[in-house]
Amino acid sequence: MEHLLSKRITNQRSSRIRELLRVTEQPGMLSMAGGLPAPATFPTELLAAAFARATTRQGPTGPVAWQYGPTEGTARLRQQVAAEHAMPLEQVLVTTGSQQSLDLLARVLCDDGDVIAVEHPTYLGALQAFHLAGATVIGVPGDECGLDTAALEAELRRGLRPKAVYVVVNFHNPTGTTLSADRRRHLVQLADRYDFLVIEDDPYGALRFAGVAPASMGGPAAPVVRLGTASKVLAPGLRVGWMSGPQPVIAAAVRAKQAVDLHTSSVAQLIVAEARAEVAAFGAHLDAARAHYAAQAASLADAVQRHLPGATFARADGGMFLWVDLGVPTEPLLAAAVDRGVAFVPGEAFSAPGADPATVATRARLSFATLTPCELDEATSRLAAAIAAGG
Ligand SMILES: Cc1ncc(COP(=O)(O)O)c(C=O)c1O
Repeated sequence: MEHLLSKRITNQRSSRIRELLRVTEQPGMLSMAGGLPAPATFPTELLAAAFARATTRQGPTGPVAWQYGPTEGTARLRQQVAAEHAMPLEQVLVTTGSQQSLDLLARVLCDDGDVIAVEHPTYLGALQAFHLAGATVIGVPGDECGLDTAALEAELRRGLRPKAVYVVVNFHNPTGTTLSADRRRHLVQLADRYDFLVIEDDPYGALRFAGVAPASMGGPAAPVVRLGTASKVLAPGLRVGWMSGPQPVIAAAVRAKQAVDLHTSSVAQLIVAEARAEVAAFGAHLDAARAHYAAQAASLADAVQRHLPGATFARADGGMFLWVDLGVPTEPLLAAAVDRGVAFVPGEAFSAPGADPATVATRARLSFATLTPCELDEATSRLAAAIAAGG
């Protein structure tokens, strides 16, 4: 039946990470590959209480949680996001996770071949969403301050005309970097001058355990769509995210979403809204999650220094990942590592089209989120053994 499939899906590669997740289910495997939040951070009591309140909330057509709802999102969650993003309500849309925000944006912005520029390397799920929508994705290099906006400007001067530039602004996946305040300003100037939209994806910003966050680029009149999600701060199984941005873009995304899923699960939206409304308990949960990830990040960084003295990396101030230069090609190393019971994601998995894959060939994304400190130590020692054995 494959001949019946569209060219679009036939050309769509399966996610290397999703494939890896299957391997990591083998017994005894220590996986630093997934981007999954630590189950220990799931606020189950907060969520259970939120569920109980959510399901008793009544609207004009009965219990809001069990009813169809507006495509834009339930009023309660939209209002919270509008307040947090300092945006008018009509510039906010609730989505089925940030992944859906990326999909909707690509659909409403891009005709076949239209360009979306991304930082190289970048989040694989964004590459997949943009590609499936028919966009041409172009990679622009980044460094320890995030997307190199001078390199982007040089490309724009040479004639690059993207519809959008996609950045993961805080604790980038996979590199862990945060886009500096100067570059954020520069990027918005470029967006104004060259007429493109900035997609500011920020799933990890609330997981900052050191340093100070630069301000968001978003605002009522900014050429920026700002994405948020409940996945890393509450639980990804809820599948609730949101975006705010220029009114015509949000209105177009609403029209696209009507065709995609009518609206995001009413019950899931209300659970998120009720949990966030418990300001003290939600704040305490976030503090605990940050403390958990800070300790985890330190454990992995220490283990890498202990077992892989030749490796280079920057210690994380937040998020879930270390982006480690192992000094050897990581794609061929993966099979040997898996044989020894450890998994990671090779840098090349995040390579953006048009960018030089050699710049990420010796990199590995190591997640410190889910393994215990003991397991992180053992995983890193297995990785060192795989490298010592010649990959
Ligand atoms: C940078 C980035 N954007 C978006 C997503 C998708 O998140 P969500 O669960 O909200 O769809 C992820 C998930 O790992 C991510 O790392």
